[in-house]
Amino acid sequence: MSETIEGLLRARYGTAPTPPAGPTNDVVRAILDHRSVRAFRPDPLPAGTIETLVAAAQSAPTSSNLQTWSVVAVEDPGRRARLAEFSARQGFIREAPLFLVWCADLSRLGRIGAARGAALTGLDYLEMYMVALIDAALAAQNAVVAAESLGLGTVYVGALRNKPAEVAAELSLPANCMGAFGLSVGWPDPARVTEAKPRLPQSIVLHRETYRPESDEDVERYDSDLAEFSRRNAMAGGGWLERVMSRVGGPQSLSGRDRMREILTRLGFGLR
Ligand SMILES: Cc1cc2nc3c(=O)[nH]c(=O)nc-3n(C[C@H](O)[C@H](O)[C@H](O)COP(=O)(O)O)c2cc1C
Repeated sequence: MSETIEGLLRARYGTAPTPPAGPTNDVVRAILDHRSVRAFRPDPLPAGTIETLVAAAQSAPTSSNLQTWSVVAVEDPGRRARLAEFSARQGFIREAPLFLVWCADLSRLGRIGAARGAALTGLDYLEMYMVALIDAALAAQNAVVAAESLGLGTVYVGALRNKPAEVAAELSLPANCMGAFGLSVGWPDPARVTEAKPRLPQSIVLHRETYRPESDEDVERYDSDLAEFSRRNAMAGGGWLERVMSRVGGPQSLSGRDRMREILTRLGFGLR
């Protein structure tokens, strides 16, 4: 990668003060250069890509080494199309040759316990659902970093949670296992690349010793940086504040996910 650390930091923080570069190497530079890819070439992935990404995912830390996640690799175009329908019809799920469904999976430990005559009722607690979700997210992000280092593009799909029961049926997921989010993987279409998206300034997210609420001035500067970014990259959504208001304005903004507790209970999670 040719970009300097200073250039990458400037891109990440827009017009906000750029943090000092600090120690760096190719891994840090690659991580700082992340962007989601939503436009893919149809070309297939090299043999062994899925296994490499899963090995990277399994190399992530996992709470108590319980490994409470699974991933379903979906290549079949028909199944990808159906999963796209369940996921707000996002077209890139059909376009990219691989769709990985990352699952919070408490079913495996349940089966392993049952086979040994143990009920493992500790799995019935909200805490264990959180463990499974955190495990799945850490694993998936390792796969993302690995994929990007290979020149592949990825985008997460939280909209997969719009229809968790339909996703579970499509993938034959057992009770106590849910598709937490998807990940499209493929070769980025070079004709439709985007810049790295600016993030909130460190003055807002980095608290030293104790928490200090953000200043309005920093928030507004970020809002206008993001609006500029959206304009430059022909992306919908405008500024950040507009996005925040529409995404979490009320239960109606959650695309059916406001009923998540009820849906998870039906999928077998205890959540006590
Ligand atoms: C858990 C999760 C779910 C996401 N779901 C979607 C999605 O359904 N559709 C989409 O286009 N992007 C989705 N994204 C991508 C985010 O929109 C993206 O990461 C964010 O806007 C920052 O942009 P960047 O990844 O290009 O830096 C998701 C990201 C995460 C972490």
